[in-house]
Amino acid sequence: MDGENSGKKIFPENTVRVKVPGTSANCGPGFDCLGLAVTLYNELELTLWEEKKLTVESVGSGSEEIPADEKNIVWRSAKMILERSGNAQKFKGAKIVTNNRVPMSRGLGSSAAAIVAGLVGANAIVGNPFGKNEILKFATEIEGHPDNVAPAIFGGFTVSVSDKGQVQTFSFLPKIRLKLIVAVPDFPLPTHLARQVLPETVPMKDAIFNIGRSAMLIAALIEGKEKFLTYAFDDALHQPYRTKLVPGMREVFDAAKKAGAAGVALSGAGPCLIAFSPAAKHLENNIASEMVRAFKESNVESEALILDLDTKGATYE
Ligand code: HSE
Repeated sequence: MDGENSGKKIFPENTVRVKVPGTSANCGPGFDCLGLAVTLYNELELTLWEEKKLTVESVGSGSEEIPADEKNIVWRSAKMILERSGNAQKFKGAKIVTNNRVPMSRGLGSSAAAIVAGLVGANAIVGNPFGKNEILKFATEIEGHPDNVAPAIFGGFTVSVSDKGQVQTFSFLPKIRLKLIVAVPDFPLPTHLARQVLPETVPMKDAIFNIGRSAMLIAALIEGKEKFLTYAFDDALHQPYRTKLVPGMREVFDAAKKAGAAGVALSGAGPCLIAFSPAAKHLENNIASEMVRAFKESNVESEALILDLDTKGATYE
């Protein structure tokens, strides 16, 4: 056991309630490595039972699309815990009740939230045999990259690296309190499509552009040096190729910056766009309405969410 969640708690009727934050990956230059957790939550009530039967009830975002069979991502994740902890015979089925506030397929980590919820919930019921770092490894195996699952587990800003099947995450809270303004357009963009448009190789100058900016971003946040944020959220590795998938992306970026945002980025693989603004400046309402207006001028309807950084990651009771 390696996590602070370790410890045995009894869950009456093998039912646990899990709350998992939405997440925004990449944060501009940190493609597949940086992420942050936001104060928008999905809730899961998971009951494990002996009978080989699955019941799924969902309300909220995308509930009509959530499969109620073996393909269900919460169940697949819970099953991974049961199999790896030797409990697959004890618990062969489950009741899954979800309340989803994180919009689906929009770049706010809805699949990471479902995976983490299933892993954390099943782990808790079977007595927490796995710590947070093992949960991170399992979640990355399912999701394919760690940048959403890491902040969903640990909260805060996260820097993750994968090496030979192991994943390491450094989670921290910035010295600057940031408001996170997210424009959510009214269309989904599946991650696999947004990854298909990326090149196999990138020019050295683009790699250098991103190395400098992601290092600058972390340093500025940890040291609380606001003026360096201006340079820190730009990207040359993925956003230029994805611009064509999100009509109005450049215009929304420009509008947010003009309204005073310190930085703007595609949230994960998109299509949500996220702006960063120090809370002390109180610019978030204006930035939000400017982003929605700029999307509308490109004929895209959107809604804006004004969020804070989640500092806890997944919790359960
Ligand atoms: N880093 C990933 C991407 C996040 O940009 O494709 C999406 O889940």
